[in-house]
Amino acid sequence: PYRIAVFASGQGSNFQTLIDASHKGILGAEIVLLVCNKPEAPVVERARRAGIDCFLFERKAYSRREDYEAEIAAELERRGVDLIVLAGYMLLLTPVLVDAYQGRMINIHPSLLPSFPGKDAIGQAWSYGVKVTGVTVHLVDGGMDTGPVIAQKIVEIEQADTIEALEEKIRAAEHDLYPQVVNWFAEGRIRIDGRKITIS
Ligand code: GAR
Repeated sequence: PYRIAVFASGQGSNFQTLIDASHKGILGAEIVLLVCNKPEAPVVERARRAGIDCFLFERKAYSRREDYEAEIAAELERRGVDLIVLAGYMLLLTPVLVDAYQGRMINIHPSLLPSFPGKDAIGQAWSYGVKVTGVTVHLVDGGMDTGPVIAQKIVEIEQADTIEALEEKIRAAEHDLYPQVVNWFAEGRIRIDGRKITIS
């Protein structure tokens, strides 16, 4: 089967949707590893409940990002991981992983890129006062949320919305989109031609 590793640092609601989709048989992929830099994060408990192996580490235990990434790379290699799925992974990546998994690493971001890259994208969109925002799934390259776009989903901000309501809508859009995109990869339907990504 197609094998994925999920990298996450926090709540893990996207990770949970991927687990649920895999249990329902609609992901077309097996989640073989959770990589997490916050051993106390709720996402770790979700992995335990689902019987998914974890690679846990703390940033401060290493002087260079390259050092823990080399350990992660070895772990991914050993498990034959086909695709890295970033789901709220809050550490920057180095070429150790980015280059090794070029075209095989995806991220989900809570805005319509290239608007509002970086941290707190929902807060940025809210403060800016946009009427339309959304979520983006993209390939990971060396930059901050700059990789080629694979799929986007629109979320409208309505008059009555609070920022909490917006966060909820964004999360729902992510949960809709991410398992779908992983399934496209698993089924070999993604073609990459520079920044042009097509789904067959
Ligand atoms: C998601 O909204 C994801 O798009 C965002 O973190 C959240 C994680 O939620 N990622 C980023 O902002 C990356 N820059 P989750 O832990 O409940 O899946």
